[in-house]
Amino acid sequence: MVAESAGLSSEDVQNIEKGLSLEQADKMVENVIGMMQVPLGIATNFLIDGRDVLIPMATEEPSVIAAASNGARMARAGGGFTTSSTGPIMRAQIQAVGIADPYGAKQAILSHAGELSEMANAKDPMLVKYGGGVRDIEVYVIDSRVGPMVVTHLIVDCRDAMGANAVNTMAEALAPKIEQITGGKVYLRIISNLADKRLARARAVFKAEDIGGPVVVEGIIQAAALAEVDPYRAATHNKGIMNGITAVVLATGNDTRAVESGAHAYASISGRYMSLTRYERNRDGDLVATIELPAAIGLIGGAVRVHPVARSSVKILGVKSADELSRILAAVGLSQNFAALRALASEGIQRGHMSLHAKNVAVQAGAKCDMIEIVAARMAAERMINVDRAAEIMKELEKGA
Ligand code: MEV
Repeated sequence: MVAESAGLSSEDVQNIEKGLSLEQADKMVENVIGMMQVPLGIATNFLIDGRDVLIPMATEEPSVIAAASNGARMARAGGGFTTSSTGPIMRAQIQAVGIADPYGAKQAILSHAGELSEMANAKDPMLVKYGGGVRDIEVYVIDSRVGPMVVTHLIVDCRDAMGANAVNTMAEALAPKIEQITGGKVYLRIISNLADKRLARARAVFKAEDIGGPVVVEGIIQAAALAEVDPYRAATHNKGIMNGITAVVLATGNDTRAVESGAHAYASISGRYMSLTRYERNRDGDLVATIELPAAIGLIGGAVRVHPVARSSVKILGVKSADELSRILAAVGLSQNFAALRALASEGIQRGHMSLHAKNVAVQAGAKCDMIEIVAARMAAERMINVDRAAEIMKELEKGA
C-alpha cells in the first residue's frame, strides 16, 4: 500500500527490503564490521499544509510510530498541520584571538563584508548557481576566560544541502583574510549547530471534543506549562518531541546529532532550558499547539543520496526541498509531543506503551513464533506486562497443550 500510494518503483521497494549492503557501508564510514539495524515504520494520518503525507520513521522504541499516527489522526479533524519556516540558512563561525583592538577589528571585518562574501561564494559556485550562497556577515566581540575574541559569522543559504560541508569550506577559505584584516590568529572555522536562522514551525488545532473534552485540554495545558518553567520536565518533554523528529531524520539519512544539538540549544536560547512547544486554549475551548525549532537537514549530500533506504524514505515523503522536509519534521515533533501529553494528562503513558512493548517482553521471556503474539495479547488483556508474567503464561500454555 505504501509503495502504491508513494509511487515507489520495485527497485525502491527492494532497497527498503534489502537495506544497506556491506560494500556500501564500507564506503560510508571506517573499519566496518557489520550493520546495526533499526526498524523502519510508517506513521499515518498526517495532513500537512493540505497534503496527505506518509512518514517513514526509523526507531528502536515501541509506541513512537503509533503515538505520532494517533496525534496526527486527532490533528486531522481540526484541519491537520500548518507549517512555515525561515528558509535553509546556516551559520559558520570564524574565531579570531590575540587582537589588541577587538572592536576596531570587528568594524574592519564588516567593512570587508562584500569581498569576504565573494571569496566565500567562489568556493561553491554550484550552490550560488542554485540560488544559494552568502547572505550576510555578522561579527561580535565575546569575552572569554582567556581574553576577548572576535567571532565572525558567515550566514549562508544552503538550499537543499544540510550545509556543513559548504559552510565549513567557506569558513576555512576566509580564515587567512580574517587574520590579515584583524592582525589576530584564527583557530576555529566551523558550522554552528545552533541553526537559529533555519527554523521550522508547525501549528495544529485539536478540537476539545476530539481529544477527550475540556478536562484533557486543561491537563495538556498544565503539563505543557510545567515544561516551560522546569528544566527537569522540559528535558523529558523535548525528548518526546525528538522521538518523532530523530526517527524521520534517521530514516532520511540525515545527521541526527546536528538536529538534536540544534533543538536543545534552541530550547535554551532564552538563557533557561525550556520546552519547544506551546499549548493554548482558543476562544472555542479547543487546544492550539505550536512548535518552533531549528532543523538542519538536507536532501543532497551525506548519507541521504547514498543510503538506499534513505532514498526510498525521501520518495515516500514526496518532498521536493530540504525546507519542506524541515517543516514535516516540525509537524511530526508536534504530533509526537501532543500524543504524549494527551496520554500523560489522561490515563498515563504506561498502558498504551506497555501493550505495544508486550511483544518485546514476550521475546525477552523466550517466546518464539506465534507464541509471541499470544503471550503479548494475554499480558495486555491482564494489564500485567513483565517478563515473569510472560514466562508464567508460556508455562501455562505449554501445560495446556
Ligand atoms: C518517552 O520516550 C517520551 C515521553 O516521556 C515524553 C513525555 O513525557 O512527554 C513519554
